This record gives sequence, structure tokens and C-alpha cells, in this order.
Amino acid sequence: MSEERRPSYEEVVRELEELKAVLAALQSGQADTLLGSSDSSAVEIYRVISEQQEAERTELIRRLEHLSRIKSDFLALVSHELRTPLAILQEAVNLILDGLVGRCDEGVKACLVMAQSNILRLGAIVNDLLDMAALEAGRLKVTKEKENIQLLVEDSLKTFQSSAGEKQVRLSFETGKDAVYYAPVDRNRILQVLTNLFGNALKFVRPGEGIIQARVLRENGWIRIEIEDNGCGIRKEDKEKVFQRFEQAGGRGPAPAGGTGLGLAIAKEIVELHGGRMGVSSEYGKGSTFFFLLPTASRELPDRQ
Ligand SMILES: Nc1ncnc2c1ncn2[C@@H]1O[C@H](COP(=O)(O)OP(=O)(O)O)[C@@H](O)[C@H]1O
Ligand SMILES: [Mg+2]
Repeated sequence: MSEERRPSYEEVVRELEELKAVLAALQSGQADTLLGSSDSSAVEIYRVISEQQEAERTELIRRLEHLSRIKSDFLALVSHELRTPLAILQEAVNLILDGLVGRCDEGVKACLVMAQSNILRLGAIVNDLLDMAALEAGRLKVTKEKENIQLLVEDSLKTFQSSAGEKQVRLSFETGKDAVYYAPVDRNRILQVLTNLFGNALKFVRPGEGIIQARVLRENGWIRIEIEDNGCGIRKEDKEKVFQRFEQAGGRGPAPAGGTGLGLAIAKEIVELHGGRMGVSSEYGKGSTFFFLLPTASRELPDRQ
């Protein structure tokens, strides 16, 4: 029986050195560079480990994707089931308030007005959840048509006139005088973006001294829509956060915040579905300017600011 040759001290040290190098590379995520460069047993061990890890990773991703799909479907289903009863409730309250089912005294009316505004709020939340579910599932589509963006922004601003009046907030609109700015957009979706931005601006300005300025400008073949307010502003560290889902970071303003924290996340995704970009510049305590860019044609995006 031939006795197995015992490795020399140098060979053991070399093998250990290689193993150490492979482990270091494994930890730093650069082990791929070692593969192919050597065929030692240490590399073979690494290869087996990394194949196992890869299989586990793939399985984990598959399960996470499955769970995410279940969550989106569940969200869509629940939101959908809430929409119908809400619509019926709203209709019933409207009928009573309009006096179509008989007279009701002022006390009852006051209660119903309160119920009506909460039904509307709940409806808006359900719509946000439905949109979010559709976005996650890649089901939210935009149907673009050529629109006059200046008119779109002005129309949206007008819908805020009475609530701004109640809060004694000044609204203004500026745009280039000599040109009409057209862009291919989904009218209702861009109105949704504008409604969120104006709604937020109004929510975070102080009553009696609030100023909200909307601007439509041209920027290298892009249309830039800006909504500036002199409200509570957003802290530097919260600027990215406010565009994330369910985040209400920046403006614990003078008014109770309300809302779901979904509006800006949805607005940003809608703008991106148009091939555009959304952002904010803000000084905490002084105000914020939310902006978004819409392409008028297929051009490159300007640099990030
Ligand atoms: N104009 C603004 N001024 C100050 N903070 C703002 C403004 N707009 C948005 N924010 C901050 O971003 C958060 C997220 O906004 P949004 O996604 O529209 O959700 P929601 O309006 O439901 O709170 C707000 O709760 C607020 O903290
Ligand atoms: Mg909002």
C-alpha cells in the first residue's frame, strides 16, 4: 500500500494563503476575478458555495416577487370593494343635502356636510391606493394627446380658487407671453399631478399670508412647470423622502398634515411615465418649489439640479 504523500510546509502555507485570499474576495464581493485565474481546491470550494448562494438568492427573489404580487392584488381588490359602497354613500348624502328626500333641519345638514367631506377624503385615499397598486403591477398606462400645458395648469389652479380664498391665500400664474406650450400628455393624469402639488402647497402655507405661484416655462425643448409656495418648507434630509411611498417627512406645517403620503410618489411616477422628471427645491421655514419637466419631443433630460 503506497503511503499518501504528506504536503510540505510550504504547500500548506500556499494553500492557506489562497484560501485567505478567496475568503477576502468573497467578503468584498470581488471573488469573480479570482475564478478562472486558478484551479486550486480553495477556488473550487468558493465555486460550490457561490452556486448554493446564487440558488438561494434566486429562490428568495422569486418568493418576494410572489408576495409583492399578492400584496398588489389584495390592495387593488380591497380598494375596489370600497369604492362601490363609498359611491352609494356619497350619492345618498348628496340626495338628502339637495333636499330631494324631504326637508332636514340645519343640525342634520351640518352633520351631513361633515360626512360628505369625509366620504370625499376616504374616496381620495382609496383612489391613491388603487393607483399605487396599478403602478406596482405596471398596469397604470398613460394615453397621450397634444395638450396646451399653460391652459392645463391654469385650469387646475382655478379649481383651488375657492379653497385658497377661504384660507386667504394668494394664487398667481405666470408663463411666456409670446408662445403656446404644447406637449403630448395624458390630460387627466397630469391634472392629478397638478392637483396634488397645488393641494400640498395650500396645505402647507399659513392662512392669511400664503402665496402660491405657478409658472410654465420653456427649458431647452422641455416644458418646466413650477409650483412655488412660501409655506413651512422641507428639511434637506427629507427632500428625497417626500417622494417615497407613505412618507410624510418634511412639513409638519401649521395645518394638520392629513393625507396618505402617497400623492407625491404617484405624481412622480406619472411624470416619469411621460418621460419627464420631478423634483423640489426648498428652504426649511421659508417655502418650497416643486417642479416637473415634460418632454415636448424626444430630447435628452437636462442635468439634475
Ligand atoms: N409644498 C409643501 N411644503 C412642505 N411640505 C410638503 C409640501 N408638499 C409635500 N410636502 C411634504 O411631503 C409629504 C408627502 O406629500 P404627499 O406625498 O403629497 O402626501 P400627503 O399630501 O398625503 O401627505 C407631506 O406630508 C409633507 O410632509
Ligand atoms: Mg399630497
